[in-house]
Amino acid sequence: MRVLVTGAAGYIGSHAARALLQDRATAVLGVDSLERGHPGAVTALTRLGGPRFAFSQLDLRNHAATRACVADWRPDVVLHFAALAQVAESVAFPERYEACNVDGTASVLDAAAAAGAAGFVLSSTAAVYGAPSRLPIREDDPCAPVNPYGHSKLRAERLVAAAAAGSTTMACAVLRYFNVAGAAPDGTLGEDHRPETHLIPCALLAAAGRAPALTVHGRDWPTPDGTCVRDFVHVEDLVRAHLDVLDAMQPGACVVANVGTGTGHSVRQVIDAVERVTGRTVPHTAGPRRAGDPPALVADPAHLRAITRWRPEHHGLDGMIADAWRWMQANPAGYVTGRS
Ligand SMILES: NC(=O)c1ccc[n+]([C@@H]2O[C@H](COP(=O)([O-])OP(=O)(O)OC[C@H]3O[C@@H](n4cnc5c(N)ncnc54)[C@H](O)[C@@H]3O)[C@@H](O)[C@H]2O)c1
Repeated sequence: MRVLVTGAAGYIGSHAARALLQDRATAVLGVDSLERGHPGAVTALTRLGGPRFAFSQLDLRNHAATRACVADWRPDVVLHFAALAQVAESVAFPERYEACNVDGTASVLDAAAAAGAAGFVLSSTAAVYGAPSRLPIREDDPCAPVNPYGHSKLRAERLVAAAAAGSTTMACAVLRYFNVAGAAPDGTLGEDHRPETHLIPCALLAAAGRAPALTVHGRDWPTPDGTCVRDFVHVEDLVRAHLDVLDAMQPGACVVANVGTGTGHSVRQVIDAVERVTGRTVPHTAGPRRAGDPPALVADPAHLRAITRWRPEHHGLDGMIADAWRWMQANPAGYVTGRS
């Protein structure tokens, strides 16, 4: 199988490429603009895949270059992870999210169809649901994003659904991730967003003394301990969902599925787990609620479980935190990219 992985120098794309390369029958072309991704992740994948891994620096907003690259590689499957994914940035610069997440998706989707790719999987997000009216969240619940990032992903989803509906040969899937955490257990790859906004790495960085105290946004939410509740899924389980869904996709149709464990953990529980795993204190302060933060986001993963053999193998917070902590300790400056 020949797979094109967009965003291959980023957190989830690099882990997906690694999982694909563990299957020796697969060849992977990773593409990334390196706007947010890390050459260090590409180096690790090159070491792992040898001649079965190639990398091309490509900005998907450049339609002609994307079309040429995809036509040249002729992938069987495209896994499209490349995107901008910072909510606060999307509020400040919505046009960047339109260009990258919507137009970038249109560009790679068009190129994939033109090159005759049989499968296309889009990274989407629980942010498309906005503030859910019930828990756990099902795929047929209303989509009402509350920020430009969520809007851009919902528009990208619609492009993928339309492309599937208009094709007799291309099968598509949209996977709506909840909160992704952890790292490759062998320590080859990790999570390194700049700025880092995800709770688990922020708590680990605070515990390590490499980031300011963690701000807990609101302690008066209608949740068991008053802090927000989220559904954390291990990055290894998440990337396996992509491989499993390939078998469930049909030409001309688009699968839409949540990827989460179905279990929520509160910010307080995450802090306790980070302290347990690291043996260190997580300095934290109380801050106000953030506008647009739903009190709880928990997936109903029943649909994915019904159509695939996918089951999360990493249960509980401690294991995913331990994997993330191991990578962070081995790479105290994160990926060394030459930029801050
Ligand atoms: N990390 C999470 O918890 C989470 C949750 C829900 C959804 N997602 C989605 O998963 C995907 C991957 O997220 P991530 O955490 O790995 O992000 P990331 O920032 O680590 O990786 C994204 C990669 O895409 C690249 N990229 C961005 N714009 C590009 C463009 N125009 N052309 C080529 N490359 C481009 C970046 O350089 C980066 O390497 C995103 O689509 C994101 O919206 C992530």
